[in-house]
Amino acid sequence: MLGAIQVEQVEAWAQNNPKSNFEDFLNWVKQTDPEQLSWFTLMKQSQSAQGASSINPRAIVFGVEAKFIFTFNGDPKQDGYNDIEMLFFREGKEAKWELRKLSFDTSKKNVSFSEPNPNSCLSCHQNPVRPIWSQYDIWKGAYGENDDAILDFENDKYAGGSLADDQKNSRKKELTSFKKFLKNKETHSRYSKLQFPEGSPVSPYSTENRSSNYRFRPNLKLTEALLPLHSKVLVSRLKTHPEYEKEKKLLTALLLRCEDYLEDYSSSIKAIFNDLDSQFKTYNKSKVPWNQVGYTGAGSRRHYLLYLLGLEYSDFSLEKEATKWSYFGGELYSEENLAIELYTQLSDSEPSLPALSYADTYNHDLVIPKGSIREQKSIQEVCRHLLESRVSSGKVEASGPKPIENPLVTCLGCHYQGGPAPYVPFDNKERILNDKVLKDIILSKITSEDQDYRMPPTRHLSEKEIEGIRLWLSQ
Ligand code: HEC
Ligand code: HEC
Repeated sequence: MLGAIQVEQVEAWAQNNPKSNFEDFLNWVKQTDPEQLSWFTLMKQSQSAQGASSINPRAIVFGVEAKFIFTFNGDPKQDGYNDIEMLFFREGKEAKWELRKLSFDTSKKNVSFSEPNPNSCLSCHQNPVRPIWSQYDIWKGAYGENDDAILDFENDKYAGGSLADDQKNSRKKELTSFKKFLKNKETHSRYSKLQFPEGSPVSPYSTENRSSNYRFRPNLKLTEALLPLHSKVLVSRLKTHPEYEKEKKLLTALLLRCEDYLEDYSSSIKAIFNDLDSQFKTYNKSKVPWNQVGYTGAGSRRHYLLYLLGLEYSDFSLEKEATKWSYFGGELYSEENLAIELYTQLSDSEPSLPALSYADTYNHDLVIPKGSIREQKSIQEVCRHLLESRVSSGKVEASGPKPIENPLVTCLGCHYQGGPAPYVPFDNKERILNDKVLKDIILSKITSEDQDYRMPPTRHLSEKEIEGIRLWLSQ
């Protein structure tokens, strides 16, 4: 395993092979990272810009780690047939996601590779960009939509026994169309290049509900591969907040649920909590999605602090329309991954911290940082240490999400001269600032709940994006 293909490699390939076709690219991937093509899922319906059908699904190919993901479909009549959409996880000083489009212009026989994060992608993938993928256990539009299972009604007489009739019918249809797809793919120039893992009649999916064999659960595998990567991105975003250095220990302690592990607190720790609570009370709670008590019943100081350090739930959720809670009610999507990543990074910068011996949500025993040979301490001991060492740093002063600096790129994805939407002069600030009517329309459209009126039509903007546009319009 050589590691996932990187953006520079694709860029060099496109430059060196300008006359190549789609299949050449797939062959190159196979040579460069053979495992890439063996982890994939197939969308029979897609809410993306690329067409999909049950016979010619949109393939999402993500390799072992999901650090390089690319997508394609299979019918020349489908939207985006000549494009490969790509998402790269970029590590380095700052971890981030990067979208790219590789296009095969068949008339000019010319390969082109887009700039990072084309505006047109941001109308769905947010700003800053993130993947779009559902959480356990429904992946709408994917084959294996329900928990990665395509039930085998032909060979298993008990298949779907507990399902209502309409559900059973739609699951039967799923099997039938998947079989048709499998037949079609044998001779298909693109799908035949995918490596279907052996061992399941409906590979890459499973015929069993809740199969314990992850090899045949690509939808879940993609969810689980994205979460630890995304938590690195979130830590990078947290680090840009001016109060992060001061609050990182408190944040790590709260995310590790220290409040559940410690029975008594010193009065100085109580004072920090009171401080945090009163700082938070100055916020308009209807705007803060996390001021809720989850199923777990506990208060959510950890959610306040994340918010005060600049993250909204749209930063966490990978759903197309951001959702507030994960399947495990009361937690944010990827919250535990974030706690683990934070403690890992904290230990990197502070060698005196012990390794944490930790049982995760699934009761797996972990050592954080992973593979550490330092002395291991229990969560109680680590909690006490983290909280006590925050005590002398004064009041909590973090001030919430910062307006985004380039808020209009999302709008420019559609509104440009000759673009798919009416031209709005976002590229001419003076003209907009002098047009009071247009300014008011923009402000009302970006905050509207009316699907037919709201902008962008594809999603809700985050608070940071809305504040960014407000700021732009007021200067
Ligand atoms: C109309 C909304 C929309 C636009 C525009 C869009 N995407 Fe997506 N994208 C989606 C959705 C929804 C998914 C989830 C899978 C699916 O439904 O196909 C997705 C998934 C992906 C994936 C698979 C990894 C993941 O995030 O799940 C890649 C790669 C991707 N998009 C790249 C791009 C690129 C590159 C662009 C711009 C050239 C783009 N997308 C524009 C909606 C969109
Ligand atoms: C996915 C494409 C798309 C994106 C992204 C998008 N728009 Fe639009 N917008 C449209 C379309 C199509 C129309 C025309 C139909 C309508 O008014 O709903 C429109 C209309 C408008 C209008 C009315 C223009 C007129 O001449 O009547 C305004 C103002 C506007 N959009 C603002 C925005 C802003 C602000 C953003 C970014 C936050 C944005 N749009 C993002 C597609 C888009």
